[in-house]
Amino acid sequence: MGEPEPTQQSSGSDAICEFIGNLKVENDNLILALHAIENRFGYVPRQSALLLSKRFSVPLARIYEVLTFYHYFRTTPSAEHTLTICLGTSCWLHGSEKILRNSQNLLAELPPEERQRFGLSEVRCVGCCSLAPLVFAGKKVIGRLTPDKMKQIIEGLLSNRGDIS
Ligand code: FES
Repeated sequence: MGEPEPTQQSSGSDAICEFIGNLKVENDNLILALHAIENRFGYVPRQSALLLSKRFSVPLARIYEVLTFYHYFRTTPSAEHTLTICLGTSCWLHGSEKILRNSQNLLAELPPEERQRFGLSEVRCVGCCSLAPLVFAGKKVIGRLTPDKMKQIIEGLLSNRGDIS
């Protein structure tokens, strides 16, 4: 069975169709088109890959080759709140691994609908070792992290308070 035809049934689909319809189709701007989609939607929806495949006359598999080769691209929407804990040497020596484990446990105890709002990941040294241990809460860097501080951050995000620091 082949891929389903992209449709324009929802406003999200309409936005994708319109956006891709306005992209310039030139020989080698597939990556630029993918960047534009990523920047506009925060990820590359499957429907947009199907539409690009048609517009650029390239196999869908080629588009997914590009998407999976470059770490920049996402094929699923990111969580509402992303928490990225540094496990580089300096942060690790200051207890970041314990903070990561505590955070995993805290999130695991949440009801599924709340847990889904969070994306917890790890990164190696990001060059701010003087702040160790640290977490990126979205784009905000929070240093001198402790398990209690991390708990407050998660609770703050859960209650939609903007006062994480
Ligand atoms: S080890 Fe975490 S910022 Fe360098």
